[in-house]
Formats: sequence, C-alpha cells, structure tokens
Amino acid sequence: MYPIHRYSCLDSTNVKAKQLADEGALHGTAIIADNQTSGRGRLGKSWHTVGGLGLYCSLIVRPQIEVTDYSKLTLVSGLAVAEALWKIAGVKPTLKWPNDVLFNSKKCAGILAESSALNLVAEERFAIIGIGVNVNHGNENFPSELHDTATSLALESDFKDGEKYAIEDVFSLVQDGVMREVSRFEKQGFRDILKDWRKYDHLLGKEMECVSTTGDVIKGISLGPDLEGILHVRDASSRIHEVLSGDVRLARTIDKS
Ligand code: BTN
Repeated sequence: MYPIHRYSCLDSTNVKAKQLADEGALHGTAIIADNQTSGRGRLGKSWHTVGGLGLYCSLIVRPQIEVTDYSKLTLVSGLAVAEALWKIAGVKPTLKWPNDVLFNSKKCAGILAESSALNLVAEERFAIIGIGVNVNHGNENFPSELHDTATSLALESDFKDGEKYAIEDVFSLVQDGVMREVSRFEKQGFRDILKDWRKYDHLLGKEMECVSTTGDVIKGISLGPDLEGILHVRDASSRIHEVLSGDVRLARTIDKS
C-alpha cells in the first residue's frame, strides 16, 4: 500500500506532489483531488478540470533508473493508463505520442510527467506523474472548443441515465497499473514496454504534422517512437525526422488536444 493524500480542492495535484516530494515523500505516494483550480497540461496548456467528474491525481516515483531514462516515464505511464482504461470501459483506447489516451480519436486522458532537477544525487531524484482522466463528463461538461476533441469514460461506455463510474475505482486501477509498469521498467528496461506501447499507437503509419519546440513544421508519416521514446517521422523526400517533443497532430484534421 502506498501513501495517499486526498484533497477536495488544489491548484494542481502536480504542484502539491512536487512540494511533498521535495519534503521527502516516498516512492509511490499519491495525491488526489476532487477539483483543481489550475490544472496543468503539457506545453504550458491548462487541463480542463470539472470538480467531482474526473480523476485528477499525481504519483511521486523514485525509480531506480538512469537519469537519461526519466524521459521515458511518460510513455511507461501512458501504457499503464491505456491498459487501465481499457479494463474499465471495455473498449480499447489508442495512445497518441507522447501521452494522450484516446477513444475513437477523442482525448479521454492526459499525462504530465515532470522530473526533479536531474542533477540531484540519485537518492533524492524523483518524477511526478500527473494523470487527468475525464470520467463521468457528459458533452455539456466540456467547453465548446473541446466538443469535437474530448471524451469521457462514461460517454464511451454508453451509460444509461444516472449510471456513473466510481472515481476511486478508476484511481485504484490507474495507480496499480502505473506502479506496476514503473517497476517493470526498472527491472526489465524499456524494450518490452515499447513493444506493448506500439500496440496502442494511434499515429503509426498515418500522415501527420508536428510542430517542434523550435517552431518547425514537419509533415510526414509517423514511424512510431524508438527505444529512446523519440518519435520518428518520414517526410515526402524519405528523410527521417526525430521529434523530441512539441505538438503532434494528424494531417488535415483539427486537433486541439
Ligand atoms: C496533457 O495532456 O496535456 C496532460 C494533462 C495532465 C493533467 C493532469 S490532472 C492531474 C495532474 N495535475 C495537473 O495539474 N495536471 C495533471
């Protein structure tokens, strides 16, 4: 059993997790909030939080891995969240590199993995794995700009009136899954995790556009992530580009996820 800190409202569970980790919180400590006032997403975006309807949690991990492997924790956790949501919804999701969990091409969950200053000595290092899952949202709970791109477990499961998922059950499955995959990563490395991740790859073989952090737009076919977790994209002249981070979207679709 890992320690769990529960809150009715926080600015962001990732911010609280960082504070607790700086104070020495143990590997596996979880922070969960019913609501967040400043939920954070990747690339400086915000995470749309609706109190009581979603899972908003952060897990503090102190894995026994090389500093250079910390960046792979996003894919490791994404796989775990996809597997957990498949179990819950009974429908297989896909994973959009690096961290979006989609049902029918709409985003149901996102992961924001943040690392401590990696120059800390090994015993003090940690990562925060922040997970947001849209659980019991109806369409009316998303702002209009997310209507075409966001979904929830309830919407994907075709629930009848009044039926709801227990957020606590979703949390337990997600937490178990992430801690199990992190431990597999520590013991067996990344190769098998990547093999499993590829079974969910939403972009593989599809034409896509990426906007790299330098602002360059790369258009091409996704070849999937490599053993470093870096996405490879082949452009029209067969040149292979490596995408480290930045926004990724399918070509000719509007993707605001
Ligand atoms: C993304 O897809 O951009 C990542 C979204 C991550 C959202 C979760 S909600 C719980 C945790 N606390 C935050 O402030 N963000 C993450």
